[in-house]
Amino acid sequence: MQKYSLETKNLCKHFGKQQAVNNVSLKVQTGTIYGLLGPNGAGKTTTLKMISGLLHSSSGEILIDGEKWERKHLEEIGALIEAPALYGNLTAKENLLVHTKLMGLSKKSINDVLETVDLKNTGKKLSSHFSMGMKQRLGMAISLLGNPKLLILDEPTNGLDPIGIQELREVIRSFPNKGITVIVSSHVLTEISQIVDHVGIISDGLLRYQGALSQEEDLEALFMKVVREARK
Ligand SMILES: Nc1ncnc2c1ncn2[C@@H]1O[C@H](COP(=O)(O)OP(=O)(O)O)[C@@H](O)[C@H]1O
Ligand SMILES: [Mg+2]
Repeated sequence: MQKYSLETKNLCKHFGKQQAVNNVSLKVQTGTIYGLLGPNGAGKTTTLKMISGLLHSSSGEILIDGEKWERKHLEEIGALIEAPALYGNLTAKENLLVHTKLMGLSKKSINDVLETVDLKNTGKKLSSHFSMGMKQRLGMAISLLGNPKLLILDEPTNGLDPIGIQELREVIRSFPNKGITVIVSSHVLTEISQIVDHVGIISDGLLRYQGALSQEEDLEALFMKVVREARK
């Protein structure tokens, strides 16, 4: 039987009269990478914030490992939403140390997460001197400190140069082998199309398409078709 680390059922969020997320039902299989794709304003961040406990839903359900979402599930969820909160005057390791203290976690995992995001050799360099890609990977390291089973990444490739994007892709691709299921959003298809197993395409708050992605599939053509049809 298929296992799902994350499901949403008719998830909705409105801000006043605006329906930002409208009956979104996602299915994220355990051990896979799921790409949540859609143009700006589609409702991606709002959806991911509800899953991460940063926003209350207006209606609908969120299931984590088949269980109805409760605050305790946040222990199993790591999230990097919008720009990571870093202390620019601290090194990578020191940033992680501060976060373990704030979150009441053991320091033991610091070296592991630095290794995972390929920041082990940054030594005394302060995070304010990091490239955008390094900052993003340090943010990812912070979200990994609690040893999550589900990782939520909101537009992690935003603002990165091609090399930064490639490095980030390699890190994300390594997660399923470490027992981490990933949901990653993007408005730029090419940036994540190579690493996702399944895609959901969202526009105007509605999930327009959801399915497995074969390597041969032209995601761009599919995306344009789905979004154009939605606009008719
Ligand atoms: N806190 C908020 N208050 C009012 N409207 C919001 C708020 N957050 C998001 N929205 C609106 O909800 C819609 C979806 O936004 P968002 O989830 O950020 O989209 P995306 O991440 O796909 O670009 C947008 O129209 C946005 O303006
Ligand atoms: Mg967003």
